[in-house]
Amino acid sequence: MLTGGGDCAGLNPALKWVVKTAMDERLEWERGIRYEVMGIRDGWKGLANVDPATWNSAGYISPLNPDDVRTWDRYGGTMLGTSRFSPYDPKNNCPELVRENIERLGLDAVIAIGGDGTLAIATRMSREGVNVIGIPKTIDKDLPETDYTLGYETAQNVIVEEVDRLRTTAGSHKRIFVVETMGRTAGWLALEGGEACGAYIILIPEHPFSMDRVNELVSEGRRSGTRYEIILVAEGAKPKGGTEVVKREGVDSFGHKALGGIGAYIAREIEKGTKLETRSVNLSHLQRGGAPCAYDRRMGRYFGIAAIDLIVKKKFGNMVCVHSGKISSCPLENIYGKLNLVDTATLYDTDRYNGRRSILINGKKKNASRIKPHKK
Ligand code: F6P
Repeated sequence: MLTGGGDCAGLNPALKWVVKTAMDERLEWERGIRYEVMGIRDGWKGLANVDPATWNSAGYISPLNPDDVRTWDRYGGTMLGTSRFSPYDPKNNCPELVRENIERLGLDAVIAIGGDGTLAIATRMSREGVNVIGIPKTIDKDLPETDYTLGYETAQNVIVEEVDRLRTTAGSHKRIFVVETMGRTAGWLALEGGEACGAYIILIPEHPFSMDRVNELVSEGRRSGTRYEIILVAEGAKPKGGTEVVKREGVDSFGHKALGGIGAYIAREIEKGTKLETRSVNLSHLQRGGAPCAYDRRMGRYFGIAAIDLIVKKKFGNMVCVHSGKISSCPLENIYGKLNLVDTATLYDTDRYNGRRSILINGKKKNASRIKPHKK
């Protein structure tokens, strides 16, 4: 098994339950098969760099047993290490070497835990004959075919906790705080994090925003007597007709841009447009850190167990997933090159830049802010 892409909370619980389920003695007896589990270091890079002749010479692969992983579910990050290494990146160009190493090491199957980049590699490996199982993880929750991706709830909790902290300082100084969350193409973290912490404005990549409208809403808030405002913005959000703000040019091995800075841009524009004191905070990698919350520990457990069930059934080329609380699986091909984005028609108020305030009614949307209040 390997973990690839950005780390997050929830990876270690999944790793623990892969090992515990694969090596459970009672299950071994029932299944009539004994499994060994190898931990591969640093994602797909480990399978490219390992030397099958000397095995774990460079520490890229090591056997794991239930005793090794007993306490792993309490910890954030990944005990196996991770990387954004792609064998298909022309810079590396080594899918053949990876396949050869898998064979020479005698690995019957590879469990790849990751997001769109890691699982795209898994899909291509599967097409080329490798027995692969995927486990979805990403704090962005942008993978299709599953209601949940490991790490998301812990990241949500970070957002809520940090915004709670900002509220006291924002209120004391009558300031506006623009809080930047992760979320390259999908606005789930900002939208649902903003809904959970009661943000006044939420800006997501799926709906380019108008800076004038943001300033109008901020001024309206002040006129109605608020002392401060919290604005949440996903790193991938952009102004109408504009582009994403990047930390540096270029893309990584997974083809991802290094996004960051939209929060600071919006803060500057609000100060310019409203003359109200505004600060920005980028929650950045804090959202990926810390111990997994209860939900990530539980989902890591279920996904880890389900991955072994798929191997027992020889259902390779699949990813474990969850739908309406039920754990199931889907072909990796179904997620290849696709993203799960926020449906702005049903979940987002494109006028007030926030979560919708009707959930059970799907009727024609009225523009509440444009309706004049009744005269007293
Ligand atoms: O894991 C996905 C993600 O959280 C994105 O939202 C973000 O753009 C990216 O990771 C940043 O990761 P890194 O700094 O590790 O490249």
